[in-house]
Amino acid sequence: MSEASETLNPYEGFKLLRDHAPVTQLEADGGWQVARHADVHAVMRDHETFSSDVSLQPPEERGAPSMLFSDPPEHHRLRKLVSAAFKPSQIQKQEAQIRTRCGDMLDELATDTEVDLVQALAAPLPVMVIAEMLGVEDGDMATFKAWSDEIFSNIGEILFGTASPESERAAAEMNAYFLARINDIRRHPKNHLLGQLVAMETEDGMLDDEELLSFCRLLLIAGNETTTGLITASARIFHEQPETLIQLKQQPQLSGSFVEEALRYYSPFSATVRRTTREVELAGQTIAEGELVVPLIASANRDERVFDAPDTYNIHRSPNPHLALGFGIHVCLGAHLARLEGRIVAEQLAERYSQVALVHPDTTSVGDLGGPKELAVIVR
Ligand code: HEM
Repeated sequence: MSEASETLNPYEGFKLLRDHAPVTQLEADGGWQVARHADVHAVMRDHETFSSDVSLQPPEERGAPSMLFSDPPEHHRLRKLVSAAFKPSQIQKQEAQIRTRCGDMLDELATDTEVDLVQALAAPLPVMVIAEMLGVEDGDMATFKAWSDEIFSNIGEILFGTASPESERAAAEMNAYFLARINDIRRHPKNHLLGQLVAMETEDGMLDDEELLSFCRLLLIAGNETTTGLITASARIFHEQPETLIQLKQQPQLSGSFVEEALRYYSPFSATVRRTTREVELAGQTIAEGELVVPLIASANRDERVFDAPDTYNIHRSPNPHLALGFGIHVCLGAHLARLEGRIVAEQLAERYSQVALVHPDTTSVGDLGGPKELAVIVR
């Protein structure tokens, strides 16, 4: 990265890319960044040319495949196994519980003094929601969160290089924990998501331990940091545009469009990755077969070719064709859940407080994958 670009906020950098280098290779043998909405959309739509099977590790070293990093027909098979549990009607059943969890966490939040919103709410809430789906007991929650953080913060190395000893240890401990739970569930069936997966009969028989573990890991990796990112993005928007909090207080029914615009404006899953299966032309650039492609979701969502005044947060924006939850066959499986959590948090913050202020607005990061590790706020 040049000195000049280091000083840019990521959204200014994205704009330069969109205007001057919409499809560009990072280094001579690096991945191709894709910055415009139309091109990111085209990549996500065409899963035959842009494969999600990106890992270079030999298949025997990868363990059971995960849907996020597989192509059809394997992707279809894996997604079908869990998709019923993520339908709106199923997710709706969790609403009351999520509201209670969120309310309990906010009851503990001190007002008029500096508190870390990540530790108090934005990290534990999504973990609890997924943990409940997987039948993790309350007492194991903190350990569970530590494992998922360790694994997530090393996702790049896990995929493309050598995982750190810490992340390998976290993965091994989490596997051992879930294996014990799975064996327990086999003796005493349970009705949560993991219980349903353990009991599931597929055309190829029951799922084996490694397939079950792979699901647990995927849900953690895909659903935790991203939702933390949405919650912290919401706080940042309340800081930057205090009138939005007041608007939501008066009209809680705007919480759905508040969340959509938050997803667009500060996209928590800021980029994803694909590998080309053939030579392809994108925005006039020829990309060879086997190259990595990095669709910059956060850039696509600020593309002035699609969104009017893209750098303005507009709670009433409609339509809002953002790509924050992906598009095509890999579109976020947890989208309804993420939206529900986002709405509940926004509604409860607006109901309880008249101000949510960041303590260090200039030093907290935006545009990273997932959410920040801490976010000092003062609520009043
Ligand atoms: C605000 C929160 C979230 C955001 C921004 C987000 C974003 C995304 C995006 C962009 C993708 C597509 C990635 C790609 O095409 O390469 C995706 C896929 C996925 N997400 Fe989410 N996600 C969120 C929350 C969740 C939650 C809560 C869960 C589950 C508990 C979840 C589970 C998944 C899964 C399993 C996939 C893979 C789907 C597939 O490959 O077919 N996500 N997510």
